Parts: sequence; C-alpha cells; structure tokens
Amino acid sequence: MEIVISGSVAYDYLMTFPGKFKEHILIDKLEAISLSFLVNSLVRRRGGIAPNIAYNLALLGGTPKIFATVGTDFEDYRAWLEERGVDTTYAKVIDGELTASFFATTDQDNAQLASFYSGAMAHSPSLSLYDLETKPDLVLISPTEPEAMDRYIAEAKEMGIDYIYDPSQQIVYFDGDTLRRGFEGAKAMFVNEYEFELVRNKTGMSEREVLSEMDFLVVTLGEKGVAVYQGESVITVKAVPPQRIVDPTGAGDAFRGGFLTGYRLGWDFQTCAQMGALSATYCLESDGPQGQSYTIEEYVQRYRQNYEDGRLDELLNN
Ligand SMILES: Nc1ncnc2c1ncn2[C@@H]1O[C@H](COP(=O)(O)OP(=O)(O)OP(=O)(O)O)[C@@H](O)[C@H]1O
Ligand SMILES: [Mg+2]
Repeated sequence: MEIVISGSVAYDYLMTFPGKFKEHILIDKLEAISLSFLVNSLVRRRGGIAPNIAYNLALLGGTPKIFATVGTDFEDYRAWLEERGVDTTYAKVIDGELTASFFATTDQDNAQLASFYSGAMAHSPSLSLYDLETKPDLVLISPTEPEAMDRYIAEAKEMGIDYIYDPSQQIVYFDGDTLRRGFEGAKAMFVNEYEFELVRNKTGMSEREVLSEMDFLVVTLGEKGVAVYQGESVITVKAVPPQRIVDPTGAGDAFRGGFLTGYRLGWDFQTCAQMGALSATYCLESDGPQGQSYTIEEYVQRYRQNYEDGRLDELLNN
C-alpha cells in the first residue's frame, strides 16, 4: 500500500534558561520590553508532523512518502529519514527558504517563550496531488498551512484517492464548515478526545452525524487508550503503560504511525489500535518525537506482553 503523508516538516530549536523569566519582566516597563536570556543548552531536533508519523511507519518496515515543502537546510534531515526508510521524493526544496523552525526557551518553572517561523512551509499550498508520479492508495492530511490542507482535501476527492483527515492542532483555527469539508467523504478521521469535542461544537453535529460522513473514526484517549468507531460498532483498546514518561511530544503522531502500519497490512481495527498505542508508548519513553527506536522483533515481543490477540507474527515475515 502506497501511503503519502502531507503535513509540516520542521526543526525544533530547544533552549533552557537556568533562571526564571518572571524575575526579569518589569511590569511597569512592558511597552519597552527588551530581554535577552543567556541559555545553557540548545538542541536542534527533527520534527514536523509528516516526518514524525512517517518515521514510525518506517520503524515497522513501511516506506511512506512525505509530501511537503522544505528549506535549503533540509539535506541532513533528508539523509537521516532516507536511511531509515522514509521516502522523501516528494519533499520539495524551496530555494532561498529555510525549513519551518520552532524556537523555544524554557525556564526553571517550565514557563516557555517560543516563536514559530513557517519558512518553506508557507509554500505548501503550491504543491498538488496531481503532480504525484503514481496515484497513492492513501493520503494522510495532517497539520500544515490551512490553505494547503484545503487544497489536498479537494484534490483527493476529485481524484478519488482515499484520505484520512488529521486536523489536530489546526482545529482551533478552523470553523465548522472547514472541518466538515475535511471529514465529509474522508476514509477516516484521527482526533483526540478534546479535539473531537471541539469538532462537534464547531460543526454542531452529533457523534452519529460526524461518523456518518466517513468510514471510520479514531479517537485517542490519552492514558485511557483509544476508541475506533465504525457504523454501529465501537472498539476500545487499552493504552500500553510506559516504563517512564520522558517526553510526551509526538505521542499522537507515533500512534498514527503504528495504527497505519496495521492498516496498510489490511489488519482489523483492534490490532491497528493496539499497534498505535504501543508505538505511542515507545515515543513517550524517549526524548523527542523521533527519539525512539526498536527492532520489529522487540516490538512484537512487547506487543505480546500487553495484548493477547492480533496478527503480529506476519509483521516479522513482512
Ligand atoms: N500517559 C499515557 N500512558 C499511556 N499511553 C498514553 C499516554 N498518553 C498517551 N498515550 C498513548 O498515546 C495515544 C495518543 O495520545 P493522546 O490521546 O494524548 O493524543 P494527542 O493528544 O493527539 O497527543 P499529542 O500531544 O502528541 O498531540 C493514546 O491513544 C495512548 O495510546
Ligand atoms: Mg495530537
């Protein structure tokens, strides 16, 4: 199954300030605020929704294609992804632009000051599904420029390509009509519990009505696990207890990678959801959204420690 994943591609520049911002902000001088913090650590991490999800599919033997615009500083990220099985053919470099970048400084109270620069991502509405070399079996529409998401949705519908709508953090910016355009006619939608409530509020639609617009709906429930709705049926799956939570960033993306691995192999929703939960837990236990790594054998073994059913044997021979 050929899976194309659209969504942001970004570098995260994360800094820590060994003090407290609040001790340096003069409330009566706010109009002239000018502060510079000497930070004692800086890391650049690979991020962005499309590669986060793709990386998790690749860990389990998939070769997903990311579909996004990137900057001239993308080449080492590209090499890293390719080495791990992610196909970057459709990651288009925009001359004279930098890859989208998130800059965040965190202080000793965990207060954060951050900026996000879209850079090359602002060009994502110029990409078209019509330019793909072959027609994919599935397109994932994950957060990037809203205009780009709209375009890919419209094109997937015109071209008759199955797509999964994954609006996540963009839901807050979308109105009810935009959301509805996204999920009506979709193969599926991925949301967390809170996002699903937002979708219902913004569209004024009931759970039943939303569900009737798509084939199946996946609602992740954090530490409570996940629910998959299809027609009249609902399957719920428990989360996999993490040994320890190192960093929650990217758990939702990892879930999607695990779930879609089961889906690409044609497996039942219970197995897909369990794989999503296990992939998410590996991510919680590591630093950053692509910090986890494991062999397929280790994955299958851990799966068996947590779940009884499933068809994971086939993954070993895939
Ligand atoms: N504390 C936890 N313990 C175990 N599993 C967890 C925990 N938090 C999240 N998960 C797993 O990750 C999946 C996705 O988590 P969640 O529902 O929080 O998504 P999300 O809010 O979209 O995440 P993100 O913050 O990455 O966007 C859950 O279905 C669950 O399997
Ligand atoms: Mg999420």
